[in-house]
Amino acid sequence: MMKACEIYKTGENEGKEKHVPEIEICKAEGKSGKDIVKIIVGKEISHPNTVEHHIAWAQLMGVKENGMVIDLGKINFAPSFTEPSADFHIPLSEFKSIIATSYCNLHGIWENSIDL
Ligand SMILES: [Fe+2]
Repeated sequence: MMKACEIYKTGENEGKEKHVPEIEICKAEGKSGKDIVKIIVGKEISHPNTVEHHIAWAQLMGVKENGMVIDLGKINFAPSFTEPSADFHIPLSEFKSIIATSYCNLHGIWENSIDL
């Protein structure tokens, strides 16, 4: 039986086009003093953004010290109109790590994570 983790790709699977969601953190610069976590797909080398081939969504999850997973948010991108990046305003101090995922309609789900 196939496991969910087998469909997630990382930087090791990258080809010429870039899919792995880059994670950037701006401490205490968000709304209500929260931290801003930026997810950017194709930061260095832009991923195609056409109806035929695009990043359809990105998601951010946080893992708490006790292992509990919090779905922090998900954003859908309109192909050809919206660049695949997003800002999430969250309290980073409540998490031990954050995990970002992105979905390309041709190349599947990609992941990146940061231990805090
Ligand atoms: Fe792709």
